[in-house]
Amino acid sequence: MKTSPLVVAQLSDTHLFADRNQTLLGLSTARSLEGVLQQIKQLQPQPDLLLLTGDLSQDETPTSYERLRKLVAPLGLPTYWLAGNHDQLALVQWIPDLAIAPFSADKQFFQGDWNFLLLNSAALNCVHGELSNESIDWLETQLEANPHPTLIALHHPPLPIASEWMDNINLKNAAALIDAIDRHPQVKVVLFGHIHQEFDQQRRNARYLGAPSTCVQFKPRSRDFTVDELKPGFRLLSLYPDGSIATQVQRIQDCPPLDLTATGY
Ligand SMILES: [Fe+2]
Repeated sequence: MKTSPLVVAQLSDTHLFADRNQTLLGLSTARSLEGVLQQIKQLQPQPDLLLLTGDLSQDETPTSYERLRKLVAPLGLPTYWLAGNHDQLALVQWIPDLAIAPFSADKQFFQGDWNFLLLNSAALNCVHGELSNESIDWLETQLEANPHPTLIALHHPPLPIASEWMDNINLKNAAALIDAIDRHPQVKVVLFGHIHQEFDQQRRNARYLGAPSTCVQFKPRSRDFTVDELKPGFRLLSLYPDGSIATQVQRIQDCPPLDLTATGY
């Protein structure tokens, strides 16, 4: 029986622009992503797949998605993605750059012994998240059909993270999702982005994990929007055939300073 883990790198909130040099709070989001990808290239073993958990683009131009593909594809790793609140274009239009190998637009797939289910929590013209009834029904059907260890990914956090401003823009109908997860013990991991910070909480059978952004970070336990000085990073997960996991966040070392006085983004 195979006992080596499947290795997944979660990259979140890349917030890319059409222009490589355009900045978010003083930081070129393309350059910080390049730093993160450079670090991923050094990993031994290499991840089996990349999972991009939304807010792929900041300016929502076709060129920004093309840039994402140009930066990530050379790694040659299977790359899956889902939309965030900043990906309105991805919600309304088919984006070819995100469907050509090694990118895949699939929202359900098996890798190793694990079942991956990717949910769209982004709603048109909303910053907060919502899951449609169709999404919840689809999830229930998938979970009833497949008892394999399961990882669910979405952009918005289904649990409060103790930051008031962020908890006002999290997943609005989280109860339906959590109820489905609670009733299906094969769900071992729930991954999300949106919060631009690390988060780790066990609830019954599942571990709820949030990732840093590959660009700017938000300060944990803040009442209002606050930028954090922590470096850009990503989450690594080792998924074992028996459903157990190991995970850690890694950050890059070199990154230009941020505009810490910003009151929004
Ligand atoms: Fe974001």
